[in-house]
Amino acid sequence: MSSFDARAQEWDKNQRRRQTAQKVASAIQECLPKGRYDILDFGCGTGLVSFELVDIAKSIMGVDTSAKMVEEFNKKSDTPHIKAYQTRLEDLPNSFDLILSSMTFHHIKNIDTLIQNLAKKLRPKGFICVADLVREDGSFHSDTTGVYHFGFDPNKLSQSFEKYGFILRCSKIVHTIQKHKAFDIFLLCFQKES
Ligand SMILES: C[S@@+](CC[C@H](N)C(=O)[O-])C[C@H]1O[C@@H](n2cnc3c(N)ncnc32)[C@H](O)[C@@H]1O
Repeated sequence: MSSFDARAQEWDKNQRRRQTAQKVASAIQECLPKGRYDILDFGCGTGLVSFELVDIAKSIMGVDTSAKMVEEFNKKSDTPHIKAYQTRLEDLPNSFDLILSSMTFHHIKNIDTLIQNLAKKLRPKGFICVADLVREDGSFHSDTTGVYHFGFDPNKLSQSFEKYGFILRCSKIVHTIQKHKAFDIFLLCFQKES
């Protein structure tokens, strides 16, 4: 059982997480053109961000490595248009208009490979929005197992996306999480060139 499995049932009780998800979701909506999107939430967890975006969604598919997170996500949905899966990106359709990922990139070892794999899932002119910690000193997590990055420099992360044909549309600090100290959360939204 992963540490996320163990925490899935209690995940939403944490007000700090709920607040972060709300800030991320509203910043995504501010950044994107008005419309309805087929959304992929990569590292969806229990869907804290996804379920804030139902008003701009045609469909929402969550994907996560934790079976228990996926289970919690699916408990909240009463429609097949909003559903999470414990599956590999490779097995998903290549037909999303918007991919979002919140607080998950720091758990992924090879970001360049991830960007290339996510890019394959997007329709032409589709969007990717990533929210995560701004570079920190490693003290955000009390247990850093499975943490591959102590946050990111948003400018460097933007350059990685631009390398694979993405255009930066929004860059913003959307929230500051108060723990023993302050941790800034950035949002970057990119559009696929073609
Ligand atoms: C910090 S949680 C964030 C969950 C959710 N996005 C939120 O904002 O509440 C990170 C999530 O990423 C998932 N995760 C970690 N590695 C992953 C991977 N390689 N592929 C997909 N999901 C992953 C974890 O299981 C966990 O649910």
